[in-house]
Amino acid sequence: MLPQEIIRRKRDGAVLSAAEIADFVRGIGTGEVSEGQIGAFTMAVYLNGMTTPERVALSLAMRDSGTVIDWSATGIDEKLLIEKHSSGGVGDEKITLLVVPLAAACGVFAPNLSGWGLDYCGGEIDMLDSIPGYDTAPSSETFVAAVKAAGGAIIGPTPDLAPADRKIFKVRDVTATVESVALITGSIMSKKLAAGPRGMVITVGSGSGAYMATVDDARELAESMSEVAAGAGLPSVMLLTDLNAFVGTAIGAATEVIETVDFLTGRHRDARVAELTLTVTAEMIVLAGLASDIEAARSLAASRLEDGSAAAHFGRMVAALGGPSDFVERPAHYLPAAGFIRPVLADGEGFVAGMNTKEIGLTLVALGGGRKLPEEAIDLSVGVTDFRQIGDAVGADHPLCVIHARDEAEWERAAARVRAAVQISDTQPPAPGPIIIDRIERRP
Ligand code: URA
Repeated sequence: MLPQEIIRRKRDGAVLSAAEIADFVRGIGTGEVSEGQIGAFTMAVYLNGMTTPERVALSLAMRDSGTVIDWSATGIDEKLLIEKHSSGGVGDEKITLLVVPLAAACGVFAPNLSGWGLDYCGGEIDMLDSIPGYDTAPSSETFVAAVKAAGGAIIGPTPDLAPADRKIFKVRDVTATVESVALITGSIMSKKLAAGPRGMVITVGSGSGAYMATVDDARELAESMSEVAAGAGLPSVMLLTDLNAFVGTAIGAATEVIETVDFLTGRHRDARVAELTLTVTAEMIVLAGLASDIEAARSLAASRLEDGSAAAHFGRMVAALGGPSDFVERPAHYLPAAGFIRPVLADGEGFVAGMNTKEIGLTLVALGGGRKLPEEAIDLSVGVTDFRQIGDAVGADHPLCVIHARDEAEWERAAARVRAAVQISDTQPPAPGPIIIDRIERRP
């Protein structure tokens, strides 16, 4: 069938067959389907949705656009191969940069296929691209060698691994087609399955800083991904998270790498980041069979964080993928810095009472830290740091955040946008509630 016929059927609300979906995705790989056709298809899916069998077919077709890693001859005990992913959130993707080395320090092997920034949320691959020499699209052999050397490695889709996601992702980023259960399921599950793990833990966010606006939408996405995982024979744990508040204190590429290294080395640890990192890692440890319950797994993870082994594994991952061998010791020496870095004062004194987190994510895109065109190069140095959390005091001595911009004019525009996105109140509101609000476990 011609690509335009398949798009037309989805546009008109039809349920596509697995063969039609496979045909369309195959065409993306061969170049017979254009970027414009991918945009039209993703908008049709965004508007009309997909049934569960269609989502499964999309995930499998996207996985099969490349190869699946075969770990059998690598010497790694395959039951220890567990993946992590985030369904997307403002400030949330850096959790992968923390969890992968921490899980590795606890004995898990964590091969991780992640993504770039997507619309108003950042992406692990842009963060890692800010490290000079780090190869985020290596050969599968180099990826396997890095996982063996460091216990975990984070890369993006490559010409061998989930290549269809690479193309679809770049189009969704700039066509307002991200917030779709079907498309997120296909994107995430194709990458998770291509890396050949034995289980996976995925955080599924909802709220103003996530793609899913409500907890019910997040639950639908979590159920959708866990059904695909179970259908592929894999156990999964989905953790539903509350992303109405900024995760951590920074967004941006280099700026979030600094936050990551500060966390791993103990220089600064945000409480919600710590909660999410330790819980996700503990779930991975239990799935790998290295602890019998979450509490034991959590205390193992906490001790590996404290004794510096997670930071050492991060350093090993960076070196194994081509980055500097002393990166953890001197991150600021290697990372790009923006031209104009200044604190932003809130309009008046008071307490942070709430925030439109999506708007803060869009501010990063406007600063040049996100894409307006597929494949566009972004500025890896810009970002926001030292962001105050809900309940924190702001005023003349307590800036709202620090903006890292290319120049003063861009800083001014971003500062006005961030101020407008944050509500300030005279009375102190309670700090945000727990970041993890529910858990869905499914075994095949
Ligand atoms: N992460 C991905 O890899 N894909 C999505 O669509 C959303 C988050």
